[in-house]
Amino acid sequence: MVGLGGMAMGSESGGMGAAASGGLGGNPLFHAGFGLMLMGTGLALARNAGGKVFAEVQRRAFATLEVTSKDPGYKWILQWIRDRGGNSRHLSLETKFRSFENGRVETEFTYVPAVGAHFLSYRGAWFKVTRAREKEMVDLTSGSPWESVVLTTRNRNRHLFGELLNEAKQMSLKQEAGKTVIYTALMTEWKVFGNPRRRRPLNSVMLAGTTAQKLVDDVTEFSSSAKWYVDRGIPFRRGYLLHGPPGCGKTSFIMALAGHLEYNVCILNLNDKGLTDDRLNHLMAVLPPHSIVLLEDIDAAFVKRDPRVERYSQSVSFSGLLNMLDGAASTERRLVFMTTNHIELLDPALMRPGRVDVIEYIGQASEDQARNLFLKFFDNETQLAAEFGKIMGSEPLASMAQLQGYLMLYKKSPPGAVKYAPRFRDALKSHAVEEAQSLKQGASDEKEHTSTGGDDTAALAKKTAVS
Ligand SMILES: Nc1ncnc2c1ncn2[C@@H]1O[C@H](COP(=O)(O)OP(=O)(O)O)[C@@H](O)[C@H]1O
Ligand SMILES: [Mg+2]
Repeated sequence: MVGLGGMAMGSESGGMGAAASGGLGGNPLFHAGFGLMLMGTGLALARNAGGKVFAEVQRRAFATLEVTSKDPGYKWILQWIRDRGGNSRHLSLETKFRSFENGRVETEFTYVPAVGAHFLSYRGAWFKVTRAREKEMVDLTSGSPWESVVLTTRNRNRHLFGELLNEAKQMSLKQEAGKTVIYTALMTEWKVFGNPRRRRPLNSVMLAGTTAQKLVDDVTEFSSSAKWYVDRGIPFRRGYLLHGPPGCGKTSFIMALAGHLEYNVCILNLNDKGLTDDRLNHLMAVLPPHSIVLLEDIDAAFVKRDPRVERYSQSVSFSGLLNMLDGAASTERRLVFMTTNHIELLDPALMRPGRVDVIEYIGQASEDQARNLFLKFFDNETQLAAEFGKIMGSEPLASMAQLQGYLMLYKKSPPGAVKYAPRFRDALKSHAVEEAQSLKQGASDEKEHTSTGGDDTAALAKKTAVS
């Protein structure tokens, strides 16, 4: 307020002062004593009224626009301010985490304008932008502090608000073009996770046989048959279940598929503490448009929990999950992808058409997959790729994630990758046995060993075997 408010106040009060002294100066009855008294009273009155006058002048001279953190436009505005460089030296860091079932944690950094005042000019007008955070006020639905951005400008420039908002929105949409927006659930709301990411090419996730093509065809067919569903009064939704061991590409494929078909992805992990049936239901009701719902680890809804733990960690129940899948028909198409590492734990009631319509097994790397992955690392090494495929294509098979980790070790030496492949396989074998035994003893919580140097291959096999 100080910069702009001071300016306007200055000119207005200056005008008033000149008028007052002119009037009094022309009055013959104006004696020094009387004058002083009058001025004293006037000053006192002015002091009292000062606050009100200031507020009134401000009200008339300036237009403000408040955008709260609850509004979808909030993020656009923040981004717009940052990109226009209004004192961009004052940024604040926003770090977001997302954890995966194999323990991997992904971190993303974004910079947003810091809390406080920023000044910037837009189409020749000055704007003061105040980002405020209420310490005492919490958004009850998301648990995050209540925030707002207030834009202030001269009243005559108020028409620029609309243009500015539009520009901010366009900018943000442009940034999302060609990218996949990922949403994660924060309490009862969907929040954009990190920056939109470049679409992962579908062929960068290699699945066995024709699985990938089958899934793409099915989703495409479904997406384009709204009329068919509506005509028959059938809810316009389809459920897919991808199951198989970890690290074989379930999640990656769904992400790539979403990108390919230009959907956004809303990820829900049923293992998340605090995700209750009610929340699940609510989240489905407020799904961002044009998105795929990705329910990770649905077996979590079937595991019989330790009653002692139950009291502290609420979670989604089996009936909660079914309700969500059957839930009130939404007008928009609904695509739900589910993943699990343990299909044997799932109740057959889940596999009913309408809940799960398509089931696909995503397994360990076949000979073909291993060969293709090798070729992704080393473009023209068809001969070596074939050898690598042969070695890795027999039991025990590795997951694609394990192969990827292994090939990273030899990314400068294709022959080395082939040479040590048998050893990697043997290491997988011995650790698979070891793992099975340790599981039998109920000692599955062994510590992971990370080793640098020494026997990298064995260490990697060991590490990935337990992930
Ligand atoms: N079939 C595959 N093709 C290419 N990369 C894969 C494949 N499967 C897994 N990966 C890689 O392994 C990692 C873990 O894969 P992810 O999709 O999370 O497995 P899942 O969901 O089956 O546990 C990712 O970095 C991914 O790129
Ligand atoms: Mg996964």
